[in-house]
Amino acid sequence: MAFSAPLLAVAVAALSAAEPVLFEPDPFASAQLRGGDDIPEEEPGRSNKWLKDISTRTKNHFKKLLQPLQSPIVQEYLVLIILDGYVNYTMQLVENATGREVVWNRTGRGLSLESEAPRALASRKQELPPRARYINRMLIYLNKEMDMVWNYKTMVDRKRWGVGNVITSSPYGPHGEHPDRWRANGSFPSPTVTPNSTILLQDQKRNLVFDIKPEVDEYDNKYAQQLQADYESLVRNIDDASQKISNLRDRLWKMESFAHEFVALPSGVWNKIDAN
Ligand SMILES: *[C@@H]1O[C@H](CO)[C@@H](O)[C@H](O)[C@H]1NC(C)=O
Ligand SMILES: *[C@@H]1O[C@H](CO)[C@@H](O)[C@H](O)[C@H]1NC(C)=O
Ligand SMILES: *[C@@H]1O[C@H](CO)[C@@H](O)[C@H](O)[C@H]1NC(C)=O
Ligand SMILES: *[C@@H]1O[C@H](CO)[C@@H](O)[C@H](O)[C@H]1NC(C)=O
Ligand SMILES: *[C@@H]1O[C@H](CO)[C@@H](O)[C@H](O)[C@H]1NC(C)=O
Repeated sequence: MAFSAPLLAVAVAALSAAEPVLFEPDPFASAQLRGGDDIPEEEPGRSNKWLKDISTRTKNHFKKLLQPLQSPIVQEYLVLIILDGYVNYTMQLVENATGREVVWNRTGRGLSLESEAPRALASRKQELPPRARYINRMLIYLNKEMDMVWNYKTMVDRKRWGVGNVITSSPYGPHGEHPDRWRANGSFPSPTVTPNSTILLQDQKRNLVFDIKPEVDEYDNKYAQQLQADYESLVRNIDDASQKISNLRDRLWKMESFAHEFVALPSGVWNKIDAN
């Protein structure tokens, strides 16, 4: 997937406003994650091999594995921004037709507040030696971004659910069973622009699914083993999110069709659409 530079710039600017540290194009060159190159190899007081810090070579190896993961994570976030615009559009179509706000951000049946995000890397209770700590910091950073990806995905999916709920629960059309009594409950202008983005076009179906394979290595050192496990789980998390985002795009396509079908229906006539 290649995103245009302006889109990336806009997204990064929008994101930086809310959360200055995440989704930097090159976070590993920035102050928060720079460094790690000047940690002395000698460590007084840690003679036990098991408890020794990872070697500089292992540290550099992990760094090389982790750095490229920033790009797919940012791409997932950018796709979600596009899908959010898309679901906003579908929601506006329905709100305009019914004259009612779509309720999507309320706890209740079908609206789970639980994020699907796997538990973020817990900050370790143990005091890590310097090189392991440095790699762990990179992992925490990338996992935090993945939390944002999952939360955003959950939000877009809730909006989709909210739209589907209105359609499904309005079997007599947008103005209900007694359309003569219908009054708009506010002003809901119809969306002026249709979403314009190639990933939304079915005839140019773009693959959104990553299939990144983690590089598997065996270590004797305890810290290296933990970092390896966390690295592998991060890669699985990125792959899993891309699959779910792709499925969400498919569901949003379907929801848009339901919405168009729904807003065109005559009111007062039973035409139930099952959109969920
Ligand atoms: C979707 O709508 C919300 C609420 O109006 C807005 O804050 C958000 O920026 C919109 N998303 C996009 C991608 O335009
Ligand atoms: C949705 O609801 C949650 C919890 O009630 C709130 O923190 C969040 O700001 C709301 N989001 C939007 C976009 O309204
Ligand atoms: C009408 O709008 C008001 C305020 O926006 C809201 O509190 C109320 O629940 C809405 N009524 C319906 C039937 O949607
Ligand atoms: C629906 O959109 C049209 C065009 O923007 C507008 O004239 C109409 O008032 C809207 N309906 C509602 C209920 O806001
Ligand atoms: C969609 O976006 C592309 C690139 O930004 C632009 O060239 C094109 O004119 C846009 N199409 C519409 C219908 O807005």
